[in-house]
Amino acid sequence: MKGVILAGGTGTRLYPLTRLINKHLLPVGSHPMVCYGIERLRQAGITDILIVIGKQSAGLYADFLGSGDNFGVNLTYRIQDSAGGIAEALELAFGFIPSGERFVVLLGDNLFLDDLTPFVEKFKQQPSGSARVLLKPVDDPRRYGVPVFDTDNPDLIAYIEEKPKKPKSQFSVTGIYMYDDAVFEIIRGISRSDRGELEITDVNNCYAKAGKLEYDVLQLWWGDAGTLESLREAGVYMKGVLP
Ligand code: G1P
Repeated sequence: MKGVILAGGTGTRLYPLTRLINKHLLPVGSHPMVCYGIERLRQAGITDILIVIGKQSAGLYADFLGSGDNFGVNLTYRIQDSAGGIAEALELAFGFIPSGERFVVLLGDNLFLDDLTPFVEKFKQQPSGSARVLLKPVDDPRRYGVPVFDTDNPDLIAYIEEKPKKPKSQFSVTGIYMYDDAVFEIIRGISRSDRGELEITDVNNCYAKAGKLEYDVLQLWWGDAGTLESLREAGVYMKGVLP
């Protein structure tokens, strides 16, 4: 199974730090942010990894990560020219994922303590053409994609609301997604949102509508390090995760 890390975002909420350096290279504990996603995939046996990066800091990524050999993985890079949304970035993985194969996608700013192995194993048991997302209960779901569960089948998500004003559950849909190559056809079928982006929630809702979106709940700490406060918190929780 292959993995994809989306690290192309510009990180405007972390200005002026991210004027100097791409968000996913900022320090979290003793390592640049992107290292933790690489380690979580490696730990789950996923060593063939595509990293989607922006033009900013491209040289630094190559300098620091190189081929991935020092990190026990094999890295491929692809450049996202402009910020067009998570699903647009994911489309750049087309061609990297062989026909019929499954893969795991991580948003590079999502940091977490769970080992992904049991979730990946469950995904492998799902029928082809279905998807799996990982959830986490949060204090303020309004900042995230929020799942609404299927009342007839509690294993399924009925739909996801993106940053709802009145969330219908306490969960966040984290930036950890599992698909097979059927996802690229779905991405081509969605339209840009009001903010001009191809939204990953629209992709996931295509699966949900077809009764094909399963989920697990992360057991340990999870955060998305998009703001200074959450970046600091991540530094505390991720301390010691990498040698
Ligand atoms: C994105 C997704 C959202 C998800 C979040 C997790 O939001 O659109 O559904 O809950 O990542 O980090 P963003 O942080 O890009 O606004």
